[in-house]
Formats: sequence, structure tokens, C-alpha cells
Amino acid sequence: MKNHIWRPLYVVIVFVVLILIVRHFLVPKDFGIGERGYMYGLHRKSNEEEWKAFKVKYRSEEYCKDCHSDKYSSIMQTPHAIIQCENCHGPAIDHPADPPKLSIDRSRAQCLRCHYPLPYPTSGRSNIRGIDPDKHNPDIECVMCHNPHKPTLEGMK
Ligand code: HEC
Ligand code: HEC
Ligand code: HEC
Ligand code: HEC
Repeated sequence: MKNHIWRPLYVVIVFVVLILIVRHFLVPKDFGIGERGYMYGLHRKSNEEEWKAFKVKYRSEEYCKDCHSDKYSSIMQTPHAIIQCENCHGPAIDHPADPPKLSIDRSRAQCLRCHYPLPYPTSGRSNIRGIDPDKHNPDIECVMCHNPHKPTLEGMK
């Protein structure tokens, strides 16, 4: 074969060898497609154990019901019923042992996560009633007027 064929072929060979070398160092040793094929085996085997050891952090609102029954029964009557308590108060897995109290965030930012108007046409997010934070009672914490566990007009402070 002529030179002008060999030269590009060398380039290709060097390229493939480079890929194999890089792959050798980057792909973990226990990355296995052997056992269960590409569809189910395309992951690091040890990652299975890592997920089994993953500590769950959230309990869901059923857990709060008995100890904070006032908050629970109140919020359940309102549109905020669909929000998990831990969405606002953080993970409660070992509460009340550790931490004895969950955090309480009274900032406007806490509420604006959901009530800042976002025009996502295909998402339910845009159905949440939004307020313009620059015009809607700026600088005053929302919870000075609205009760997060009873956000309806009757619940206003
Ligand atoms: C076994 C009873 C128990 C359960 C279950 C429980 N809590 Fe508590 N919680 C307490 C106690 C006791 C305190 C500390 C006393 C207090 O301030 O009411 C506390 C404190 C708090 C506080 C801080 C109150 C403050 O005034 O600073 C928040 C917020 C809270 N809990 C939220 C939750 C949420 C959300 C859940 C469910 C995911 C939950 N708790 C589940 C018993 C419980
Ligand atoms: C939308 C966010 C939000 C959700 C959802 C929410 N909270 Fe709260 N929670 C707050 C805020 C903000 C305060 C502080 C209110 C204030 O100071 O007026 C608070 C205060 C509290 C307190 C302590 C203050 C008090 O009045 O005793 C407890 C306990 C509590 N929440 C429990 C719960 C439980 C239980 C749930 C679920 C059933 C829940 N919260 C759901 C935002 C939320
Ligand atoms: C995780 C999302 C989320 C967070 C955080 C949140 N809200 Fe809401 N809020 C909703 C949804 C969903 C509704 C029901 C749909 C609607 O009315 O727009 C709602 C409804 C409301 C309403 C109207 C209630 C009515 O029927 O008149 C008020 C007022 C309100 N929220 C205030 C607050 C305040 C104050 C905070 C912060 C303490 C807060 N929200 C935090 C999701 C959220
Ligand atoms: C000074 C008191 C006050 C403060 C502070 C306040 N609001 Fe309001 N909010 C009201 C009143 C009164 C209404 C009902 C009349 C209206 O729609 O303006 C209302 C209405 C709402 C509504 C329903 C709007 C609708 O279209 O029906 C939402 C959502 C809301 N507020 C969220 C918030 C959030 C989030 C904050 C904090 C960033 C906040 N508010 C701060 C007094 C307050």
C-alpha cells in the first residue's frame, strides 16, 4: 500500500490505542457487563453495596402526626397539604433524638422557592400562585401575615 494510505491508518491506530489506554485507567475494575449484559449490568458492581448502605434521611408527614398533631391536622385542611413537612423543615430521620429540634426557616426565600412566579408552560409549577416579591409586601417575612400550616385567608395572622 502507498504512504498516503498508511499515514492516516497510523493515526487511527494510535487513536484507538490511546482510547484503550485511557479506558484502562478510567473504568473501575469491577465495572461489569459480563454478568448481566448491557441492559442490567452496565454499572460498577460495588455501587450496589454503596446504595444499600445509603442512609435514608426523610420520614414523611405520617411520622410527625402524633407529636405535632396541631400542625398536621391544620395543614391537611389547606392547599399546603401536598407539601411534605420535611420539605420546609429538613430531614427528620432521627428527630427528636437527633436533632431534638428541626430547623425553622422563616425567610422569604423559603416561600419564594415555590411562590416566585415561573412561566413554565408545560409544568404544574406555573399553577402555583405566584407573587412579585418586589411588590408584595417587600422586606416583611411572609410568615408575619401568612401561616405556613394554614396559608388560606382564614389562616391569616
Ligand atoms: C416522637 C415525637 C416527635 C416526632 C415523631 C416528631 N417530632 Fe418534632 N419535635 C418533638 C419534640 C419533643 C420537639 C422539641 C420540643 C418542641 O419544641 O416542641 C420537636 C421539635 C420540632 C421542631 C422545632 C420546634 C421549635 O419550636 O423549635 C420542628 C420544626 C419539628 N419538631 C418538626 C417535626 C417534623 C416535621 C416531624 C416529622 C417529620 C417531627 N417533628 C416529628 C417531637 C417529635
Ligand atoms: C411551607 C413550609 C412549611 C411546611 C410544609 C410545614 N412547615 Fe412547619 N413551619 C414553617 C415555618 C415558616 C414555621 C415558623 C412559623 C412562624 O414562626 O410563624 C414553622 C413552624 C413549625 C413548628 C414550630 C413552631 C410552632 O408554632 O410551634 C413546628 C413544630 C412545625 N412547624 C411542624 C410542622 C409539621 C409537623 C409540618 C407538617 C405537618 C409542617 N411544620 C409543615 C414552615 C412549614
Ligand atoms: C414546596 C412548595 C411550596 C412552598 C415552599 C410554599 N408553598 Fe405556599 N403553596 C404551594 C402550593 C402548591 C399551593 C397551592 C396552589 C396555590 O394555591 O397556588 C400553595 C398555596 C399558598 C397560598 C394560597 C392559599 C389559598 O388557598 O389562599 C399561600 C398564601 C401560600 N401558599 C403561602 C406560602 C408561604 C407564606 C410560604 C412560606 C412559609 C409558602 N407558601 C411555601 C406550594 C408551596
Ligand atoms: C404584610 C402582610 C403580608 C406579607 C408580609 C406577605 N403577604 Fe402574601 N398576602 C397578603 C394578603 C393580605 C393577601 C391577600 C390579598 C392579596 O392577594 O393581596 C396575600 C396573598 C398572597 C397569595 C395569594 C395570591 C393570590 O393570587 O391569590 C400568595 C401566594 C402570597 N400572598 C404569598 C406570599 C409570600 C410568598 C410572601 C413572602 C415572600 C408573602 N405573601 C408576604 C399579605 C401578606
